[in-house]
Amino acid sequence: MTYKKKILIIQSIHKEGMKLLEKNSNYEYEIVEDISINNLKSKIINCDAVAIRTSKLPAEVIKLSKNLKIISRHGVGYDNIDLKSSKEKNIIIAITAMSNAVAVAEHVMFMLLSISKGKNMYHESVKSGNFNERNKLSKTIEIWNKNFLIIGFGRIGQSLIKRCLGFEMNVFVYDPFVSKEKIESLGGKKVDNIAETVKSMDAISLHMPLNKDTKNMINYNLLKTMKKNCIIINAARGGIINENDLNKALNENLIFGAGLDVFEIEPPQKENPLLKNDKVFLSPHTAAFTEECMIRMGKETIQNIIDFFEKNLQKSKIVKL
Ligand SMILES: NC(=O)c1ccc[n+]([C@@H]2O[C@H](COP(=O)([O-])OP(=O)(O)OC[C@H]3O[C@@H](n4cnc5c(N)ncnc54)[C@H](O)[C@@H]3O)[C@@H](O)[C@H]2O)c1
Repeated sequence: MTYKKKILIIQSIHKEGMKLLEKNSNYEYEIVEDISINNLKSKIINCDAVAIRTSKLPAEVIKLSKNLKIISRHGVGYDNIDLKSSKEKNIIIAITAMSNAVAVAEHVMFMLLSISKGKNMYHESVKSGNFNERNKLSKTIEIWNKNFLIIGFGRIGQSLIKRCLGFEMNVFVYDPFVSKEKIESLGGKKVDNIAETVKSMDAISLHMPLNKDTKNMINYNLLKTMKKNCIIINAARGGIINENDLNKALNENLIFGAGLDVFEIEPPQKENPLLKNDKVFLSPHTAAFTEECMIRMGKETIQNIIDFFEKNLQKSKIVKL
């Protein structure tokens, strides 16, 4: 009997992804929903591949694996995986690089328009019978002809710029690793000094990884220099914006509003003041949760594992460790 490679799927993925395994006799799989460290420790020992969503895979779990060759992330961020132990054990990390840029870019536009147009306020005013009080509501603002700064110009940033240009915004890009030519070819203006640039921006959206350089990059010192009508959106990773500083800046009316899909601690703690702040528009790390995107990510997560074992996995999908 031929050996079937064992895939541990940590939290279920879309059934369209599972279909790729069901018709492939080279693999067997187990789906685990219990993401406790003790359970993962016992499950990881004999598997050849792991497919993982956003649950944590720390060193103490990875170190127990005996056959593990690939960790396939359902998504593009990989800060939930311990990189050091993966590298030590020659385990590669693959990402669903082709799947989620459009969904996240659309989510940013959804947040930007919801905040600028007072989505929650308008909706509640009609629902609560206050239609005739509409002249007393807070101001809303347009996004047309406004300055938009995209920080991080990779897959998502480049998808977002097309949508911003469709709304006739002036788009600025801060990404030290992307050339002026590339940014200009897509209709943006490259900027190098973030502290100077934010002073004239009407909206800012973050699309870089969380690491030691980007942690707390958006802090009170920067927030206090922004325009009063500035809207800031984080659909990248919690921690890039310092949450206490953001809450303070919003309470002091230093900026107009914020859209947050991601949080320093997920789920955010009940006492997190941003949850009660009316100037904040929230979503539960669901920027990539459209049905279409879940299908693409589910399929790509599994296909990356199959491609790896068939020696076909594209280099662009492998994280450099
Ligand atoms: N909310 C969600 O559900 C969701 C979904 C997908 C991705 N994400 C997050 O979005 C972010 C971007 O994803 P992507 O697929 O576009 O990644 P990407 O790797 O294609 O692009 C990231 C870009 O950030 C740039 N960058 C790195 N350090 C920077 C810095 N200090 N300042 C400015 N730019 C910097 C890189 O040069 C790169 O161009 C990641 O943090 C990812 O985890 C979130």
